[in-house]
Amino acid sequence: MNGLDDRIYIEGGHQLKGSIRIQGSKNAALPMMAASLLHRGVSVLKGCPRIADVFCMEEILQNLGAVTWWENHDLYMDCENADKWSVPFLFTGKMRSSVILLGALLARNGKGSLGYPGGCVIGKRPIDLHLLVLRKLGAVITEEAGLLMAECPRLQGTVVSFPKRSVGATQQGILGAVLAEGKTVLENCAREPEIQWLCRYLRAMGAKIEGDGTDRICIYGVEHLKAGSMQVPPDRIVAGTYICAAAITRSQITLENPPEGELEAFLEVYRKMGGQYKGNSGKLLVNGEHVQKPVELLETAVYPGFPTDLQSPVMAVLATVKGRSCIRENVFEDRYKAAQQLVKMGADIRVQGKEAVIHGGKELHGAIVTAWELRGGAALILGALCVKGVTVLDGYSYVQRGYEHICQDLNTLGAAVKRMQE
Ligand code: UD1
Repeated sequence: MNGLDDRIYIEGGHQLKGSIRIQGSKNAALPMMAASLLHRGVSVLKGCPRIADVFCMEEILQNLGAVTWWENHDLYMDCENADKWSVPFLFTGKMRSSVILLGALLARNGKGSLGYPGGCVIGKRPIDLHLLVLRKLGAVITEEAGLLMAECPRLQGTVVSFPKRSVGATQQGILGAVLAEGKTVLENCAREPEIQWLCRYLRAMGAKIEGDGTDRICIYGVEHLKAGSMQVPPDRIVAGTYICAAAITRSQITLENPPEGELEAFLEVYRKMGGQYKGNSGKLLVNGEHVQKPVELLETAVYPGFPTDLQSPVMAVLATVKGRSCIRENVFEDRYKAAQQLVKMGADIRVQGKEAVIHGGKELHGAIVTAWELRGGAALILGALCVKGVTVLDGYSYVQRGYEHICQDLNTLGAAVKRMQE
């Protein structure tokens, strides 16, 4: 999408209050959708977020021959006849996480082909670890003219030690191994909650998996899987973004349906800034009124460390806090695109290599800014909530890839965010 349709207007300076419900998690739903291909019948994901990336994955499944439909927020996928095995670049160019389909296609059909994946512009984002684990499982993979071709009549259990922790490559290995012959051991796995959600879903389908949530996962291959049915968990990154919205506007809000125990590293930083919160019968009461302290050093890391996806939202908050803060981005090498845009709004942020130094507390003002990726775009919306005047954000479609109704949610809380049509 381009032009005015892709633009939103945010009038800053409104205090937030009230209650919002957290949507289902994008990063949990996408691999579960890929896993649904492993059963030749109908599976359902309840409470699935209705966002661009999920629609893109849905279209891919349809293109493979699946029949899908929605009943409110429940996504049904009938994969009985999803026997095509090729995902064209038309889809994979839009969404990098579609690469995890390769393991599922191999497991289902003994072959799969994929246009070389695209996605958010946050660094090089290679897929060598995905290819490594599939090759170890026995796949013969060739890469030619932007197309990946993978073949293996039946993947074979094996031992794979990842040289680096990767969420997607760990999921790729799991998807490949659940229907493989024999036992697979994955070592040095990522431990993100979304890996555990994928494994819970696959176990409900009859897969035999142990050790998810640790860095060593064992998978005992089975002959086939039955139908999947599961509630998609609440999105921890969306919850963190809304906590940042309370922090940046120094407001009190309530999150219904917050993720449990998945936001610890983020909440520690939020507490350091002076933020307060309290759990209360399945709700999280967030008080950002006392946010005022800079953070000496915030380093992103693999789970359970501070999530890279919340780095830009927190940067926006730190820009409003008096004093010097420093962020070190260790996961992706080019994830500071939001910083330049926050500078346009009056923030003092200097980026050098992996580090961003923020001299916070400068008065921010409205500006015309551009989102270049999903979480950075959300950070700009947050910045705009607390400035004097109106901010125009271009590139809103990036934000829509992951946030189901961020404008509506913020307006429910008292903000003034509008699309062009309104
Ligand atoms: C997932 C999340 C994304 C999040 C990221 C890190 C989804 C759909 N996306 O992305 O929101 O920011 O985890 O928490 O769940 N790498 C390689 N080779 C590979 C694969 C990855 O070098 O084959 C590198 C990446 O470039 C990056 C690091 O490993 O530097 C971590 O990436 P990874 O954990 O794979 O992230 P994604 O699964 O792509």
